[in-house]
Amino acid sequence: MITIVGCNKGGAAKTTTAINIAVGLALRGEETCLVDADFQRSASRWHAEREQAQILPLITLVEKRDNISPTLKSLDKKYTHVIVDVAGRNSRELITGSTVAHQIIAPHQCSQLDLDTLIELQQQLQSIRDLNPEIKAYCYQSMATTNPILREKERAEFLDFVKEFKELIPLNSVAHYRKVYRDVMTEGKSVLESSNENAKYEVLSLLEEVFKSC
Ligand SMILES: Nc1ncnc2c1ncn2[C@@H]1O[C@H](COP(=O)(O)OP(=O)(O)OP(=O)(O)O)[C@@H](O)[C@H]1O
Ligand SMILES: [Mg+2]
Repeated sequence: MITIVGCNKGGAAKTTTAINIAVGLALRGEETCLVDADFQRSASRWHAEREQAQILPLITLVEKRDNISPTLKSLDKKYTHVIVDVAGRNSRELITGSTVAHQIIAPHQCSQLDLDTLIELQQQLQSIRDLNPEIKAYCYQSMATTNPILREKERAEFLDFVKEFKELIPLNSVAHYRKVYRDVMTEGKSVLESSNENAKYEVLSLLEEVFKSC
């Protein structure tokens, strides 16, 4: 199964989400390949840290740019899960990858600047579905507030905005803003390999919601 973690906004948590999903699936014992399709190479740098620290399970990482669809199709034959991290803009990798992917997870913060980019994503999805009608597209709230006073209101605002975009399914799972997501990144780890139970729960919920039947 090919999963693109992509959207048109920089810094929305694409790489963070892709890495945590890839480790989560690998911890389940499933053959998982992480594809770094972003010229910034954040996932590759994370992977280099992981290899150097000899953290298990091993995750296979493939770097590929431009037209990534033939590579994804061939990796899909070899791995149970192919998780693709793309650049945060209207990238060729997002478009070419989406023509062969089974699903897109699009992380977005609840900020007007992030959510405004859903308009572009919706237009891209309409074109992608002409070529790949079965593709599922999920919108994932990232870096949500943990402030108990603001939490519910922010979530309601997010859902209210996303419901205007019929091409996208809002996920019940949410990633809240937690320092541990940043800290583990520099250590080549996932939050699943940390002691932060809240962050672990968030990633496990995402896996359960999107990959439960896989
Ligand atoms: N839930 C979170 N809590 C706190 N910090 C987070 C969270 N998710 C991501 N971050 C941090 O936010 C920053 C941006 O995240 P990330 O690099 O995953 O985004 P991106 O969408 O891949 O960015 P780019 O468009 O540059 O590729 C990073 O410093 C990351 O550690
Ligand atoms: Mg990134």
